[in-house]
Amino acid sequence: MKFVVAVSSIALIASVAVAKPLSQDAALKIMHERHEGMETIGKANRDLRRELTSDTPNMATVKTAASQVANLAGKSSHWFPAGTGPELGKTGAKPEIWQQPADFNAKLKDFQGAAKALQVAAAKGDAGASKAAYASLGKTCNACHETYRMDMHH
Ligand code: HEC
Repeated sequence: MKFVVAVSSIALIASVAVAKPLSQDAALKIMHERHEGMETIGKANRDLRRELTSDTPNMATVKTAASQVANLAGKSSHWFPAGTGPELGKTGAKPEIWQQPADFNAKLKDFQGAAKALQVAAAKGDAGASKAAYASLGKTCNACHETYRMDMHH
């Protein structure tokens, strides 16, 4: 039951646009949440890569990491409101995110779809399907980072 709730709570509609301007506090809070969220996605991604490049993947680990990525992918719809770019503080988010919102949103949506597909494959314990879904997911990370993320070297 827990799994069903988690899946249905994933927002598949990605959006970076918000109508009302954010207070500086609210913006900084979101930037912090975004950074933590991406770091957690990065850690889960390392688990996924380790297991899914193995001949004998631990599917329990894959299932946990895939759910984590899918849940955070859903939350990421709220991580990029206008006013949370480099104009406000240190961030790896490039200004292009807010200059090309349609393209950015499309990439966010691809990521959410791929993360959900991996979550579904992993929940079935299907290693083959999980490997394929993981390969697709990795492409969506790179597609976005290529244009919209700068390296912070921290
Ligand atoms: C739609 C765009 C997008 C997608 C998709 C995306 N990222 Fe990111 N990622 C970013 C941006 C923008 C940043 C910089 C965030 C910041 O500094 O506020 C970032 C930062 C990171 C960071 C560094 C932590 C940080 O905040 O600096 C890691 C690790 C990371 N992403 C991993 C991933 C992985 C793994 C995937 C795929 C499973 C992924 N990302 C998918 C846009 C994306």
